[in-house]
Parts: sequence; structure tokens; C-alpha cells
Amino acid sequence: MLARAIREGIGHDDRTLHPQMWSAAFSKLPDEDVAAIVVYLRSLPAIRNALPRTHLTLSQKFRFNTMPEPILDARPQPSFATPKERGEFLEYAADCAGCHTDWYHPGSAVNGQLFAGGNLINAPTGENIFSPNLTPDPSGISYYDENLFLQVIRTGKVGARKLHGVMPWAFYRSMSDDDLKAIFAWLRSQNPVRHIVDNTEPPTFCRLCLQKHGGGERN
Ligand code: HEC
Repeated sequence: MLARAIREGIGHDDRTLHPQMWSAAFSKLPDEDVAAIVVYLRSLPAIRNALPRTHLTLSQKFRFNTMPEPILDARPQPSFATPKERGEFLEYAADCAGCHTDWYHPGSAVNGQLFAGGNLINAPTGENIFSPNLTPDPSGISYYDENLFLQVIRTGKVGARKLHGVMPWAFYRSMSDDDLKAIFAWLRSQNPVRHIVDNTEPPTFCRLCLQKHGGGERN
């Protein structure tokens, strides 16, 4: 029941869960990994905290009900030939591309270009933060090396600047060196896409993603 909720997005009562339950990213997790998560969940102390049921609009129900895909086969532990392959798997579960890609402006030059940045993240604190470009282009993170990448993910800082908390580095910081290096290898293998997104600059119109973000006018 738990595994189904985690990987398929179906609740204990057979209800389709709201996609804020990020099961799409967890769908490729192998059986053993999901079993480990379930064991961990079962080890947590029970806390009494009754919450109201989720109410969806008819249109939400219609859209969400068509999203989950059943997992019918066994998912064995994958074996990876290269760090890049391992990185692709880890990145999928961590959903870096979900945030670091502009998905919502069909027809714009960078729409759907993986890791090219420009996705608006509304912080609970009210600020509008845009995800930066992680591709190996000079406007992305071409200047990164493995060590800098590990340092940024472990400290949440780029140089002296603290990254905004919407970049969930704190959740990624305890990954092993090998796992983080694998994710970096995957990022390095991506197409370079030119798209300057700099949250330290004032928001200006960007002709590549058709939004107003830091450094937009330089595109
Ligand atoms: C919930 C959205 C979200 C997710 C998921 C996410 N990021 Fe980010 N990330 C951001 C945002 C927004 C920023 C910019 C924060 C700022 O400028 O203060 C950022 C910044 C970064 C930076 C700093 C780039 C620079 O300018 O030097 C790196 C590196 C990075 N993310 C890598 C990753 C990796 C790798 C993953 C997956 C393991 C990931 N991010 C997942 C939103 C996200």
C-alpha cells in the first residue's frame, strides 16, 4: 500500500493522490529501495494528527486520475555501467530537471530544454525565484568542476552567496561523494543551452523564456 502511494501515486483508499505527492519522480525506484523507505517510515514514532480530507475540483479529478501509471513488473536494483548512467537515475528521483527546466512557455526558445533554467519557483516566503541554468554553456555552470559542485550542494552556497532555500540542497547534502559526482557527470553530458538566469540581478524581460527574471535583458 505504501509502495503504491510512493511510486504510483495511489492512496490506501484507491484514490489518485494530488501530484504534489511527487510519485512521478519516484516511479523508477527499485523494489528494494522502496522497501527500505517503507521500513524507515514504519520505524517512526506514531503521532496522532488527524487532518481533513483533500477535496479536489471536478477538473482536478479529471486531470489527476489520468496521470498515475501502474507498476506491474518487478523493479530490480539497476546496475550502472558508468557514473553518468547512475547520475541519470539519481537525478530522476531527485527531480533536478523538474525545477531547473522551463516547462510552462510553449513556443519560447528554452521551453522544455532540460536544465536550461527559467522555471519560476514561488517561495512560501513570497519571493519569486527563478531556477538557474545548469547546462555546460558559459551562461550555465560551465565553470563548475566536481569539487565546486560538491561544495555548493553540501553548503548551499555559491562563493559567499547563500542559495535561496527553495533550492533543496539540504536534502541532497548527505548524498555520498560518488552519488553527487554521478549527478555532476549527468549534468555535464547535457546539451549546452544559452540562457542567463541570475537571481542577484533585478528582473528584466528575457526574450528566450518570455518572462522577467534576473539577467533577462542580457539574453
Ligand atoms: C524545488 C526546485 C529545485 C530543485 C528540485 C532543485 N533545484 Fe537547484 N536551484 C533551484 C533554485 C530556485 C536555485 C537558485 C537559488 C538562488 O539563486 O538563490 C537553484 C540553484 C542551484 C545551483 C546553483 C547554481 C549557480 O548559480 O551556481 C545548483 C548547482 C543546483 N541548483 C543544482 C541542483 C541539483 C543538482 C538538483 C537535483 C539534485 C537541484 N538543483 C534540484 C531550485 C531547485
